[in-house]
Amino acid sequence: MDDESRSVEDPRTPLAPGLDISRIVTGLWQVADQERAGVPLDPGAAADAMADYADAGLTTFDMADHYGSAEVIAGTFAAGRNDAQLLTKWVPEPGPASEEAVDEAVARALERLGTDRIDLLQFHAWNYADPSWLDCLFMLAEHQAAGRIRHLGLTNCDAVHLDMAVRSGVPIASNQVCFSLLDRRAAGAMTEVCRTHGVRLLAYGTLAGGFLSERWLGRAEPPIDESLTWSQMKYRRFIDQAGGWERLQGLLRVMDGVARRTRMTGDPNVTSGLDGAPTGVSIANVACRYVLEHPAVAGIIVGARLGESSHIGDNLNVFRFSLDDDARRELDAACAELDPIGGDCGDEYRRPPYLTASGDLSDHLTTLPPPYPVHRCGAGEHVSTGTPWEALAGFSRAVRRGGRIYVAGTTASHGDRLIGGRDPAAQTHFIIDKIEGALQSLCATLQDVVRTRVYIRNGVDWESVARAHGARFAGIRPANTTVHADTVGEDLLVEIEADAEVS
Ligand SMILES: NC(=O)c1ccc[n+]([C@@H]2O[C@H](COP(=O)([O-])OP(=O)(O)OC[C@H]3O[C@@H](n4cnc5c(N)ncnc54)[C@H](OP(=O)(O)O)[C@@H]3O)[C@@H](O)[C@H]2O)c1
Repeated sequence: MDDESRSVEDPRTPLAPGLDISRIVTGLWQVADQERAGVPLDPGAAADAMADYADAGLTTFDMADHYGSAEVIAGTFAAGRNDAQLLTKWVPEPGPASEEAVDEAVARALERLGTDRIDLLQFHAWNYADPSWLDCLFMLAEHQAAGRIRHLGLTNCDAVHLDMAVRSGVPIASNQVCFSLLDRRAAGAMTEVCRTHGVRLLAYGTLAGGFLSERWLGRAEPPIDESLTWSQMKYRRFIDQAGGWERLQGLLRVMDGVARRTRMTGDPNVTSGLDGAPTGVSIANVACRYVLEHPAVAGIIVGARLGESSHIGDNLNVFRFSLDDDARRELDAACAELDPIGGDCGDEYRRPPYLTASGDLSDHLTTLPPPYPVHRCGAGEHVSTGTPWEALAGFSRAVRRGGRIYVAGTTASHGDRLIGGRDPAAQTHFIIDKIEGALQSLCATLQDVVRTRVYIRNGVDWESVARAHGARFAGIRPANTTVHADTVGEDLLVEIEADAEVS
């Protein structure tokens, strides 16, 4: 069997050593929506609905600590069977990372899922300028080493920080991100990072809440309100970002054309078109297949409203055809007619426009605490980031006097750890995160930076450092000096200081 036919027919894949998953993963965020009135689903009935998916070969489920009672339902379902893979997430509010909080999160997931080992625990970081996200990962890696977690994953992590986490020694198996014909951000830098480190993508939003299906072809635009599912509310915002409803209709028409002429392997008389004519595949199948065929993608996560609707039969057809070159060209051209979703993977949870069901972060966060402690001292405010050298050499990470902020020469050290390994670009990104964290602690932002000075260890590739600086300061454009120097600390390849002015 050649690679192509294997990828067409094989409904399973190894996500990581010892963890084979169905390439269509059933997503249970929808449970939280079904429970939006505050009444939990009956766990037995919902577990029976999960069994229908598993019995059809869709044995892998995705959930999270905050998806209503999804983890409890999954635990009920999995009791007494050993063919299921239960992937979950820990999405803590931002703030200091404590061992107790990490222990509690792991213990809670184990208990709800009724297991002694979590197949995949995926972590979500809200604010990269707060290094507690890395502390959480280091502590989760200890739980993995102790056998309570089989594999660690991330969710909504951007390319820079996925690279940073892996280079810092965290064993990341997967990253769960939005990826669809409407949102192709994951096909860029994210794919390169995944290829470099062997990380696999789990793609959600592939059907845009169902908007990428026959049901919405030729239909009028629904308003964003509570008559929609949460998932539809979320992806209506993506559709607006992509250029609006008429552009979605253009994409759906092209997908419909591809679907109608594409034939499935096996039964040539299979009918799946809405008009009942002998046809190829459904629009939803085309949406799924487009993402599933992407080389970095291990699986797509398709949301299910347990006990309310099910598309098992139609979705299994995804493994009975592949998209030919003409179909891909047409779909790519149709995507090119859309406005690209801006930024990198996961930005919709970190900066406006927030592409969430509510259009903001009110369902997720109460506060965004300052990443580092601030001390008042004389006429100024001082930030300490806790590296041993601050006390030893007698300096602050940052000092604010009036509207002026001075950030000290900052390296990629964090406590006694080196972040980013010996990669100059990854170190640079962490340094800029640290500078951003110091600024946030002083009620300023990276936008306020007016000057940077970059010192690169003699012999280290300066261009990758300059590019990382460029990626973070494009649009801010501080005055800059970059020099090669005999920097202090053998593994610390880069040091950056920054001045900011706040009006
Ligand atoms: N990490 C994150 O931040 C994040 C964010 C969002 C989602 N997720 C994960 O991804 C999962 C998927 O959620 P999503 O919101 O992205 O939704 P989605 O999978 O894009 O859409 C799910 C909806 O599509 C419809 N559908 C499914 N198969 C279909 C078919 N063959 N034909 C027509 N319609 C079909 C169903 O609508 P009906 O039920 O109305 O029939 C279903 O409820 C979630 O449950 C969660 O596990 C993760």
